[in-house]
Amino acid sequence: MSERSCLSIILAAGEGTRMKSKLPKVLHKVAGLEMVLHVMRAAQSAKGGDIALVVGHGADRVRAAAESFMPGVRTFVQEERLGTAHAVLAARDAIAEGYDDVLVMFGDTPLVEAETLVRMREGLAAGLDVVVMGFRTERPAGYGRLIEKDGALLAIREDKDCSEAERRITFCNGGLMAIAGRHLPGLLEAVGKDNAKGEYYLTDIVSIANDRGLKVSAVEAAYENVLGINNRSELAEAEAIWQERKRREMMLSGVTLVAPETVFFSFDTAIGADTVIEPNVFFGPGVVIDGGAAIHAYSHIEGAHIATGASIGPFARLRPGADIMEKAKVGNFCEIKKTRLGPGAKVPHLSYVGDAVVGAKANIGAGAITCNYDGYGKSLTEIGEGAFVGTNSSLVAPLIIGEGAYIASGSVITDDVPADALAFGRARQVTREGRGKLLRVKLSAARKK
Ligand code: UD1
Ligand code: MG
Repeated sequence: MSERSCLSIILAAGEGTRMKSKLPKVLHKVAGLEMVLHVMRAAQSAKGGDIALVVGHGADRVRAAAESFMPGVRTFVQEERLGTAHAVLAARDAIAEGYDDVLVMFGDTPLVEAETLVRMREGLAAGLDVVVMGFRTERPAGYGRLIEKDGALLAIREDKDCSEAERRITFCNGGLMAIAGRHLPGLLEAVGKDNAKGEYYLTDIVSIANDRGLKVSAVEAAYENVLGINNRSELAEAEAIWQERKRREMMLSGVTLVAPETVFFSFDTAIGADTVIEPNVFFGPGVVIDGGAAIHAYSHIEGAHIATGASIGPFARLRPGADIMEKAKVGNFCEIKKTRLGPGAKVPHLSYVGDAVVGAKANIGAGAITCNYDGYGKSLTEIGEGAFVGTNSSLVAPLIIGEGAYIASGSVITDDVPADALAFGRARQVTREGRGKLLRVKLSAARKK
């Protein structure tokens, strides 16, 4: 099959008015990734060859998202929304290039699996001319019904055009189709709009293909593959199914999830074996954990790399650019941004460390803060290996603290501190014997007046 050329056409022209959103429907996200990009990814992993995206509503934004994900992706504009066959025809220039296989997918079905696409292409490779993905449901209303006879697919009847008997069929059209490229132009040309909606239905090519003596068949796949998102409730449903799949995949690959239903991953989260994830952890995009790390409860992690043996949280926030090296520790109520925390370094409690490089085994005391922003620009803080930053210190960047240096607690450090030095950046303590008692007498007298 691999030597067969393939074009994947993804229809993403829909406005999606029921999303009640300014954002085009296909740009709403599941697991941190736009729906249409999930579909493009599935096509890619099924070796779906070249991708042609048909855009319409919000074309510029959809094109920009697709382009950033897959530079050079081809897009075609469907100016008027005249039906799914009309939408496919928008990509006629790509179709005309003569691919062996053409896959048609919808941009609002984010859970489509590569494996399903592969099975459909295998059907073409085995000599079928049109392969339709079908699924079974107890609630078929709204879907096109698959009219079969002796294993062959005779027609797809849209819900609005069904007879009473046909309406009872529970085997439905998922919307995914694989078509032999050499027949597609002719089939599309023959599609009319003599139906209840007055649209050019792509589904009509099934009966047209039958009339022409071509071989048409349906393959069955799980309903999730074609879960089309039309409103935000369905979006949440897709998210839930996606998360469940990912949790299972993580656990089977050696990651412990103490309470799997409370952990949320992004489309690209990568975690090595023997990592233990406690309850209520959220992963935004761009997280890589090498393995053997501990992520304690209630942590929020995005754009971060966490090396082996590191310990994060509970209640930690790692933001983009956090690079936590082997056996380093980020404790409770700490925020780390764009910072490399060296091997064995510790930020155990209540700190903000941003735009910093922290050497191996350095210790950042409770409440210490890097003052990295002056309202205009960001500056770097470098903390040497084995340095000790006392509690509640403010490190005003740009700043270099040398290896093994000590910062007295409560300091505001504005000047570089050389290696092995001890720096104080606070007023000296003054103690007046007996003055506390005098103050108390004075204050209570004032109150009695
Ligand atoms: C379609 C199928 C139906 C199937 C169902 C599965 C057709 C005629 N019907 O119905 O058999 O059971 O999907 O969900 O194909 N689109 C365009 N341009 C258009 C029309 C549609 O890009 O002019 C896109 C939409 O944005 C959407 C997809 O094609 O992504 C399907 O269109 P939609 O109107 O949702 O078709 P359904 O009525 O759901
Ligand atoms: Mg639909």
